[in-house]
Amino acid sequence: MTVHIGAAPGQIAETVLMPGDPLRAKWAAETFLDDPVCVNEVRGMLGFTGTWKGNRVTIHGSGMGMPSLSIYANELIRDYGAKTLIRIGSAGAMQEKIALRDVILAMTATTMSTPSMGFFKELNFAPCADWSLLKAAAEASEGRDIATHVGGIYSSDVFYDERPDLNEQMTRHGILGVEMEAAELYTVAARFGCRALAVLTISDHLITGEQLPSSDRQSSFGDMVEIALEAAFA
Ligand code: ADE
Repeated sequence: MTVHIGAAPGQIAETVLMPGDPLRAKWAAETFLDDPVCVNEVRGMLGFTGTWKGNRVTIHGSGMGMPSLSIYANELIRDYGAKTLIRIGSAGAMQEKIALRDVILAMTATTMSTPSMGFFKELNFAPCADWSLLKAAAEASEGRDIATHVGGIYSSDVFYDERPDLNEQMTRHGILGVEMEAAELYTVAARFGCRALAVLTISDHLITGEQLPSSDRQSSFGDMVEIALEAAFA
């Protein structure tokens, strides 16, 4: 057990999918895994371990924002031996060519700050996805009835942004979408020699103002889980 995860040693798989929402972790585990077992309930942050095509997988919530994700990523890696961590979550589109329900595979994650910034001091570390996962996810998304975009994203510290000019600069520099966790996942994974990727579904559009109806969110989420599982075990 760790401070935030109640799983016994050995109950966490080397491959972990991390949605922000713990109830999404429950839904994904019950929908895609064989024999899912709940391995964490501390603070309501649910985690489940089961198998997918015979491979052991844990699906564990990260919570919202980089400080929350950082706690779980650190404990999953350092205390439970996780080796491959894939964020599955939502993002806001920052380019006109991207539509609601499209998938982004985040090659890099730009930030204003991360929980890791303190020890980089004057350095601007460039968080990037693991190439083998990124390549496998791009291949897994081919042939699906869903448009997939590969490129840079922005991991923001805030959802309610008081600096819209920043979003304009992100759009201008080709950033595909905004979310709030990937940069810290990539940074923590790099520190411990682990593989990481963020697979994101577009839930809202910062340019058009559109939002995905909540009724559509689950089915879009399913494509993302399948892409992540196929990439993890490619
Ligand atoms: N996640 C999904 N949409 C988002 C947005 N507009 N800003 C930050 N994170 C998000």
